[in-house]
Amino acid sequence: MCEEMVFFKNKNRKTGVDKNNLPEHIAIIMDGNGRWAKKRGLPRTAGHAAGSETFRKIATYCNDIGIKYLSVYAFSTENWKRPKEEVDAIMGLLEKYLIEAYDSVIKDNIRLTFWGEKAALSEKLQAMIHEVEERSREMTGLHVNVCLNYGGRDEIARAVKSIAKEVISGKINPETIDETFISDRLYSAGTPDPELIIRPSGEIRVSNFLLWQSAYSEYYFTDVLWPDFTSKVLDEAIAAFQNRNRRFGGV
Ligand code: IPE
Ligand code: IPE
Ligand code: MG
Repeated sequence: MCEEMVFFKNKNRKTGVDKNNLPEHIAIIMDGNGRWAKKRGLPRTAGHAAGSETFRKIATYCNDIGIKYLSVYAFSTENWKRPKEEVDAIMGLLEKYLIEAYDSVIKDNIRLTFWGEKAALSEKLQAMIHEVEERSREMTGLHVNVCLNYGGRDEIARAVKSIAKEVISGKINPETIDETFISDRLYSAGTPDPELIIRPSGEIRVSNFLLWQSAYSEYYFTDVLWPDFTSKVLDEAIAAFQNRNRRFGGV
C-alpha cells in the first residue's frame, strides 16, 4: 500500500482527524463570551453561561476521543478589572460547575485540577475546588486543568520566589537550577506541555496564558466565538495541527 493510502485509511474522512495521532495536551483560551451575548442583545453574563455549557461539551468530547489533558483559560489575573457583577457571575458559574463536577468526575472518570492563585478566591470556592481536586485525584480519563485567577507571568514570578527561598535556606545551590527545575515549580509541574493551543473569538494574542509551557506549542486561531465552538471546530483545529511540521529548532 502506498504511503498516501495508509494516511487516508487512518484518518476520519469527514474531519481529516487522525484519531491515532492526537495531541496529548490541548489548551484553549475560552474567549468571545461577551461578544456572543452582545450580538444577541443579551447581558455579558448570558455569554458566560453559554460559554460554560460549551466547556462541558468540549471536555466531554475530549474525554470521549481520548485526549489526555485539556487546559482551559477560565479567568485571568487581569480579569479582576471587570465590573464586579461580571466577576461575581463568572465565579457563580464556577460554583455551579463544581457542584455538578462532584458527581461527574467519578461518573466520567475525569481528573479535575485548578491552576492559578486560589487564595484570592472566596473561601467557599476554595473549599469546593479542594474537595473536587481530592475526589478526582485517582481518575484515569481526561485530566482537565481549569486556569482560574491564572497568569503566565504570575506563575513564573511565584516560581522564582519559591526558588529564591530554597537558595537562601541553603537547600539548593543556584548552579543546579535548570529548565526542568523551573518547570517543576509551576502549576503545570508533571503535566506535559500543550502541543496545541486554540484561541477562538478572532483575537490573535496570548493574553498571559501558559507563557512558559507554550515554548513549542502550535497555535490555532479561529473567529468562532467560544459559546459557538463545537466538536467539529475542535476537529478542524486538531486536523490543522496534524498537518503542521514541528521542527523544535531542528531541520
Ligand atoms: C472570555 O470571554 C471569558 C473571560 C475572559 C472570563 P470574554 O468575556 O472575554 O468575551 P469577549 O472577549 O468580551 O467577547
Ligand atoms: C483571556 O481573554 C482570558 C480568558 C479567556 C479567561 P481576555 O478577554 O481576558 O483577553 P484580552 O483582554 O482580550 O487580551
Ligand atoms: Mg475576551
